Amino acid sequence: MSRFQLTRTLDEHSAEEALRADVLQGLSARPKVLPPKWFYDTRGSELFEEITRLPEYYPTRAEREILLARAAEIAAVSGARTLVELGSGSSDKTRHLIAAMPELELYVPVDVSASALEGAAAVLLAEHPKLRVHAMIADFTRPLPLPESAGPRLVLFLGGTIGNLLPGERAEFLRSVRSVLSPGDALLLGTDLVKDESVLVAAYDDAQGVTAEFNRNVLAVIDRELGADFHAGDFEHVAVWNRREEWIEMRLRARHELTVKIRELDLAVEFAAGEEIRTEVSAKFRQEGVRAELAAAGLELTRWWTDEQGRFALSLATATAD
Ligand code: SAH
Ligand code: AVI
Repeated sequence: MSRFQLTRTLDEHSAEEALRADVLQGLSARPKVLPPKWFYDTRGSELFEEITRLPEYYPTRAEREILLARAAEIAAVSGARTLVELGSGSSDKTRHLIAAMPELELYVPVDVSASALEGAAAVLLAEHPKLRVHAMIADFTRPLPLPESAGPRLVLFLGGTIGNLLPGERAEFLRSVRSVLSPGDALLLGTDLVKDESVLVAAYDDAQGVTAEFNRNVLAVIDRELGADFHAGDFEHVAVWNRREEWIEMRLRARHELTVKIRELDLAVEFAAGEEIRTEVSAKFRQEGVRAELAAAGLELTRWWTDEQGRFALSLATATAD
């Protein structure tokens, strides 16, 4: 029996329909917005991996430090036989956890990026001769039909990706995670923490311009998928700290007045000079906020670990009784 299975809950047609709806709605709104999940085509996933190696981008290193220090404890506390990971990307940090889990039978990485899932599965199957991998191309903000599998299950949501959801979306997302947890299951959640503005802004506006290229990649996706005529050079990358909301905003700012035609939507989008599209928020957290958001979704924070410098946190949570 093959140890690898791939399920596509998001077929190419429905992915394109979702992109059309998001672009139509987002670019007709004031201010203009685009959801961050459209960054991650093959090129976007590669650029994100490059970001994780930048000197300014500390979250991946900080989270890896915690995982390395706590892998055995997480494995022992969860006793997981199934590991589900939402927005798994390259699964690179997850490898430390899998290596510490001899009882693990099944790994279920879930991502919108097929290229990231394929790369991750190849590495993990080669490293773990007994592990089964059931990869799912799916949108984690939608109801997720997880495969039948042995409990206990540990659901991972790493990297601080929860911060890319808006507060209402986070509440809905956490409630849907809660609904798939049985007694004995747990959630391991990575959150980047509030810190000095200069450190945060540098992490999202690196000197080599990799984050700028990642940000502009969403325009290339819209050009290719919807026949638009965005030119990346017309837009400046902007990263600002929103102190009130405690999130970083990435934006694309029109360098001059312009009109973009989107053939597949039969739409012309006008930009004034300096007008911006908000392409991502990346919320930063405090322990009390994480605890409260989990509690509101019926989840109890049972462990809180940070890296030595207190930059990033991993939370373990279990479902509270109904
Ligand atoms: N967890 C990895 C990757 C983080 S990058 C890490 O910590 O390094 C964010 C990942 O989430 C990308 O691989 C992206 O393709 C995926 N992603 C973003 N929005 C998504 C969505 N709505 N549904 C599923 N995957 C999503
Ligand atoms: C995936 N996510 C947690 C990243 C972040 O830090 O918000 C995406 C990213 N955007 C710019 N750099 C990295």
